[in-house]
This record gives sequence, C-alpha cells and structure tokens, in this order.
Amino acid sequence: MSLPFIDLAAQQARLRPALDRAIARVLDSGQYVMGREVVELERQLAEFCGVKHCLACANGTDALQLALMALGIKAGDAVFVPSFTFAATAEVVPLTGATPVFVDVLPDTFNMDPESLKRAIAHARAIGLNPACVIPVDLFGLPADYDALNPIAWENGMKVIGDSAQGWGGVYKGRIAGALCDISTTSFFPAKPLGCYGDGGAVFTDDDELAALVNSLRQHGMGKDRYEYARIGINSRMDTIQAAILIEKLSIYADEIEARQDVAQRYSQALSGRYETPSIPEGLKSIWAQYTIKVGSAEERDALQARCREAGVPTAIYYPIPLHVQGAYSAFPADPAGLPVTENLAGRVVSLPMHPYLASQVQDGIVAAVLG
Ligand SMILES: Cc1ncc(COP(=O)(O)O)c(C=O)c1O
Repeated sequence: MSLPFIDLAAQQARLRPALDRAIARVLDSGQYVMGREVVELERQLAEFCGVKHCLACANGTDALQLALMALGIKAGDAVFVPSFTFAATAEVVPLTGATPVFVDVLPDTFNMDPESLKRAIAHARAIGLNPACVIPVDLFGLPADYDALNPIAWENGMKVIGDSAQGWGGVYKGRIAGALCDISTTSFFPAKPLGCYGDGGAVFTDDDELAALVNSLRQHGMGKDRYEYARIGINSRMDTIQAAILIEKLSIYADEIEARQDVAQRYSQALSGRYETPSIPEGLKSIWAQYTIKVGSAEERDALQARCREAGVPTAIYYPIPLHVQGAYSAFPADPAGLPVTENLAGRVVSLPMHPYLASQVQDGIVAAVLG
C-alpha cells in the first residue's frame, strides 16, 4: 500500500471537466489578475460564511499581514498568537514592527487558552507593550473558542483577527468560521480543505472601513484612482485562474466537509480505545484540515510512524517544534507561566491521512498500520 496524505487527484477527477472549462474561460477573457471570477468568488465566499465583505489576495500569509496593516498595528504593539501553529501566524507580526507574544493552547482542542491569554496580556503591559490584537488560530480545522477570546480582547481595547487558514467554513455555535471575530483570514494553498492550484488567500470582515483599507492595501495602497496612492501597501492580488478554480471547488465544499466528518468519525471509532482522539466541543464542527491524535510519548510516536512507513501509510507531525522555542522567535515574550501544553503536544501529536475521498477499506488499512 502506498497512499497520498491528501488525495488531490481524486477531487480533481471529480471536477476536471468543469475546471477545464473554467480555466479556458479565463484564458479567453485575457483578464489574468483580479478579473471577473475574482469578484464572483469574493461574493460566493462572503455568502458562504455570512460576512459582508470578502477580499481575495495572493496567499494566507498576506491575508494576515493585510489584516494587521488595516488595523494599524505598529511598533510598540503586542499581538497575541499561539505558539502551536504554522509560522505564518506569528511571522507577519514583526513585519508590521509589532511584537508577537506567545500564548499557550488547550490540551483538548489545541486552540488558544483564554487564561493563558489573560496572563500574556498582563505580562505585555508590564514590559511596556501596548496590547493591540489577538490572533486565534482554528487549528486543524476546529474553530477557536471565540466566545471566550473575543470578550478578553475587546475588554482590553484589542481587535481579533481569526486565522482560519485551516478552519474556514467550520461551524461555531451556529455561525461559520470566517465570521467569528473582527476580521478573519484564510489560505487557499493546495493542501488546505478549500485549496486552489497555486497560492491564494482571503480576508473577511463585516466592517466597511476595514474592507476598504484591505482593498487599498492589497493593491499598493491605491487611492481613488489607479495611479493615486493613499497609503503604503503591498502587491497581493489574486490570479483570475485561481479564482475560477476555487469557484468550482467551492461548489462541492459543503459536501466535502460532510464527507470529512465520516472519515473522522471512522478514525475516532477505531482508534479511541488506544489513543487520545480529537475532541470536538458541543456546538462546533471541524472541517478536519488534519486528523491528529495524541500518543503517550515521543518514543511511542516514533514507533507508530515507523510502523506506518513500513505499511506505506504517510503520517505527519504538525508541529514538531513550537514557535516560541525556535531561533527566529525565542527572543519574543510569552505567557510568563510558560507554554507547557504546547511543549507537551509537540512531542505527542501525529496526523493521519485525511481527505474527503478516503474510502473505508483504505482507511481500515491505515488503522491497522496505526494500531500495529
Ligand atoms: C494556520 C495557518 N496560518 C497561515 C497560513 C499561511 O497560508 P499561506 O501558505 O497561504 O500563506 C497557513 C498555511 O500555510 C496556516 O496553516
């Protein structure tokens, strides 16, 4: 057995004729950047998650940077981020001149811990920073606990940017990830649950003013007219071909999210007797960007991965080294109580193949390899 970790080919086979037609339409139009399909995609994405504005851009990292720039985040500001995430969440903060402050996560959901956030805010103030923004991450597809995190941010005069690169479209108490805080972002990197065939990203907000700012900032700080500049911006436009591809993929996204529930449920049924399987709080729905279990120790994880490799089953570790201990980030402040949960998880998590087209017989083989 030799399996893909994410089977993009199965999805492409399902959509190929429609994708070919969509790409051909863009080739015929000659509008290769920010063309008609980009505007249509923005409309559909905004409708899907229930926000007023969606602004497409070049990738999920730029989406975060655009959000920070639109909020006016600057030197002297503290931006609170988890350490147990992909580097992009923290990377954008120093690029604005602000300081990332690392916050621990909860052991069951892997998402930002509100109590750790409170300690980190007090610490940031004590060292002379201005608490300005919180970036919860919807890790592995599960929305963060926005009802707990938003009030802490707002009471402290901060804004919340939801990093939904892995969780866009997930459900949080009847609402959809992308619409759970002041401004949200996502990534359309090919391996993401809603991915294109290159790089892409988007920013979501209900705030007219923030939307206008992001629109300007993604086009070099454009003013009212084409060669008039109101502010310093960046170049982060979306390619029309990627938008055309995403429109086709969005048409089956809800169906794929449901198929992912079945795959996750089958894993949990088969593995929960032996390992700690993901825990989804009441009223929430993950989009299962990853299916991640916790094993007893790093040694046990090495053995599991070796067994799987032998059987041709790919596994992955997200994330083996927390950001706050990495060379690039270790000088930045963190929750003064430390980040024990993050450090523990880094040594124990392992992710299994996950995509909507994972057949149950194939999954049986994966489970057999995992259990050994
Ligand atoms: C949590 C998180 N934030 C941000 C990003 C950045 O997205 P992109 O790769 O599109 O820049 C990613 C994905 O790569 C991610 O997983």
